[in-house]
Amino acid sequence: MLTLRGSGARRGNSLSNLALVKDGAVLVRDGMIAAVGTQAQVEALPEARAGEKLDLGGRVALPGFVDSHTHLVHAASRAEEYESKIAGASYEEIARKGGGILNSVKQLRAATAKELKKRALAALQQFAAYGTTTIEAKSGYGLELASELKILRLHKELANEQPLEIVSTFLGAHVVPEEYRKNADGRKRYIKLLEENLLPEIGEGRLAEFCDVFCDRGAFSVEESKQVLQAGRQWGLAPRMHAEQLSRTGATRLAILLRAASCDHLEHVNQGDIRALGKSETVATLLPGCDFHLGLKEYAPARKLIEAGAVVALATDYNPGTSPTLSMPMILSLACTQLRMTPAEAITAATINAAYALRREKRMGSLEVGKQADIAVFEVADYREIPYYFGVNYCWMTMKRGRVIYAAQESTI
Ligand code: NIG
Ligand code: FE
Repeated sequence: MLTLRGSGARRGNSLSNLALVKDGAVLVRDGMIAAVGTQAQVEALPEARAGEKLDLGGRVALPGFVDSHTHLVHAASRAEEYESKIAGASYEEIARKGGGILNSVKQLRAATAKELKKRALAALQQFAAYGTTTIEAKSGYGLELASELKILRLHKELANEQPLEIVSTFLGAHVVPEEYRKNADGRKRYIKLLEENLLPEIGEGRLAEFCDVFCDRGAFSVEESKQVLQAGRQWGLAPRMHAEQLSRTGATRLAILLRAASCDHLEHVNQGDIRALGKSETVATLLPGCDFHLGLKEYAPARKLIEAGAVVALATDYNPGTSPTLSMPMILSLACTQLRMTPAEAITAATINAAYALRREKRMGSLEVGKQADIAVFEVADYREIPYYFGVNYCWMTMKRGRVIYAAQESTI
């Protein structure tokens, strides 16, 4: 059992410390962890003797994955763009021709809430099937009041109607929508719309906890991002950012300056950014699924970030354009082979550090007394086999707040 005990974010060498307990057991009461230890220790407790026993048969148990960066609600895949990319078109070229995010915006605006809900529900079931128990979900394919509200209200509805926790993020500043690109002052008017129209509505309705901005070439500048994130904060939304994905803009410095919860992607950070992240509380969230899916060779400098002392997290970035996967185990495999993280570091980055990125490290991310009983069990003999096997699902059981929400049909090995 990997407990990840020792609450709080992990940096440097402590990323490797999974606080493994051989023959481990947990006692669950009312969805919370009431005791953790060896099987002998836990079974000796009077309360355990009176309880119901779930035998995991010597499999590997760990905290449920926390996926701190997803674009859960979208209308459709972009498989046709995938094919163009393979033929040589870049992500940015496709976007300039009206494809990319704008393509997804068109489809989302045309979709009904019911259609979007059906797709999101199916995805949520899959997240659970791969061992994930909490996800962050961003809006950002609506880019107008009604459509952004359609997404954010869906986050709320889905959170109430299925077992996974959903942390809602407003990403109105994903890109400037088509209808604001025709005039020179369009960008300014769109940002004004975000500040004066969307944010007040979202803030008052408590529809999001975080405000995100895609700060990059072809999206929003550092100055524009600052303006939107500060406005978001006035409505109670804490900042987080898409940073240095396609180019180095200085987004990471802004994230640190604003005390953002996280800055994500980081393929193009420089030495100074790495040093600054090492000294900051802002989490460096790496999304290797994007580089893999886009066929890019430039992965984020994970080793340098860990050496500098940054709080490194991993997430799927589940979205139709750059990372159409909801498998955290696959992300762990990529983190090991492409980012050169060890299996232990990758697991820490996808559990306790990811919980910290969502400001939920006191409730989840480790198996400790007083935390939620969010547990993933894998059909493997050694935790290193979780990333070692790739492209297959060895998740055997997922538990959310003490309730089994996924169970494999039969033994997979
Ligand atoms: O995290 N970079 C911006 N947003 C997404 C991509 C969204 C899309 O292409 O639809 C990302 O990679
Ligand atoms: Fe993203």
